[in-house]
Amino acid sequence: MAELRVRPSEGWQGTLRVPGDKSISHRALILGALAHGTTRVRNWLPAGDCWSTRRCLLALGAAIAEEPDGAVVVTGGGPQALREPEGILDCGNAGTAMRLLLGVAAGLPHFTVLDGDASLRRRPMRRVTEPLARMGARVDGRQGGATAPLAVRGGGLRAIRWQPEVASAQVKSSILLAGLLADGETVVEEPAATRDHTERMLRGFGARLDVAGTRIALTGGQRLTGRQVDVPGDLSAAAFFLAAAAILPGSRVTVQAVGINPGRTGFLDVLAEMGAEVALTEQRDVTGEPVADVTVAAPAGGRLRGVRVAGELVPRLVDEVPILAVVAACAQGDTVIADAADLRTKESDRLHETAVHLARMGAAIEERRDGLQIRGGARLVGAEVDSAGDHRMAMALAIAGLAARGETVIGGAESVGISFPEFPRALAAFAGGDRSGAHAS
Ligand code: S3P
Repeated sequence: MAELRVRPSEGWQGTLRVPGDKSISHRALILGALAHGTTRVRNWLPAGDCWSTRRCLLALGAAIAEEPDGAVVVTGGGPQALREPEGILDCGNAGTAMRLLLGVAAGLPHFTVLDGDASLRRRPMRRVTEPLARMGARVDGRQGGATAPLAVRGGGLRAIRWQPEVASAQVKSSILLAGLLADGETVVEEPAATRDHTERMLRGFGARLDVAGTRIALTGGQRLTGRQVDVPGDLSAAAFFLAAAAILPGSRVTVQAVGINPGRTGFLDVLAEMGAEVALTEQRDVTGEPVADVTVAAPAGGRLRGVRVAGELVPRLVDEVPILAVVAACAQGDTVIADAADLRTKESDRLHETAVHLARMGAAIEERRDGLQIRGGARLVGAEVDSAGDHRMAMALAIAGLAARGETVIGGAESVGISFPEFPRALAAFAGGDRSGAHAS
């Protein structure tokens, strides 16, 4: 198990780039495998989760290669060119891989078994297997089809109208992918808007969708055509550096070429509300996704203020709750995060792990059934903490370490390889080597 050691840091000034977006990297390969022709993916994220999707698609018979310039190329012959996998599809730690590929497996006339690591085997899959079964797939698994390993006998799907109970882009995407392979018009109506990468990319590949607010309708049997996808930087990776800029006095950090899909920018809205300076420049469209350079500066003179985060904002910052708790611990006043019970079903129970480890670092933080309550202002102190095998926990705790007195040691730091393998190096480079560095050991 790798450790990441972090010492306190002064303010940061500078510019960086972060790796490609994880959500978009998964989808680019999956749609490429379902499309006809060539899909060229530039800036694909070469991290654990996306490799899981890539390996599963290879097992389904997709042709995936790499060009000398690093672009990942998928050559597709439509869904009918995919074959029944000989072995189990191992989705590793990746919930996105499992949920989206369950939708694909349901639509193909094959027998497919999907499994994952210990964390993924604990995560709820009924939210996906139930609608897929109603569409006509035969799905079984542990706990009556609620958890992995899951076995799917797919094909012959009927369209469905579905209102998921949880606002989840993974659930929406799974049903839309199955809907693409079904007969008739599939309609998904979300309880709150979530990231719409799947809808944007389906359109980019030539599909027609009717979107009205949180209602998405898609007619099955549409032909996808391969295209180029330029993956923007991952805002959920940038968030750690932007948070550091907000909490380290005197900082100003720009992350270039980051995706700013409206379903992802809740964290930026909250940082601004807390009093940080947030600016988006060089806004542009990159193969269907909005992209910008994002600058965050610590509040001049004043301190960050506590905020209330609840309701429709939560899906827009769902992956940023641990790092938001770190920022809140460094602010003045109370922050309440509510309506976030689904955080307990992520790679770890992120409400519990965030509360336990930030408390160990001296934060006044309480776990609630559906969120967190943080009383800001207590000085953080370095401590021995642990990622609980969760990449975003490891990175959030590392940023907390920058604002703490003394050294913070994060156990299980190899988990950053799931979404941001270069994180320790990027952090050390930014924190300035010996003066206030971070290093992995
Ligand atoms: C993702 C959606 C979110 C997010 C996950 C990636 C996606 O999950 O937490 O990291 O790529 O669709 P939910 O949709 O289950 O909230």
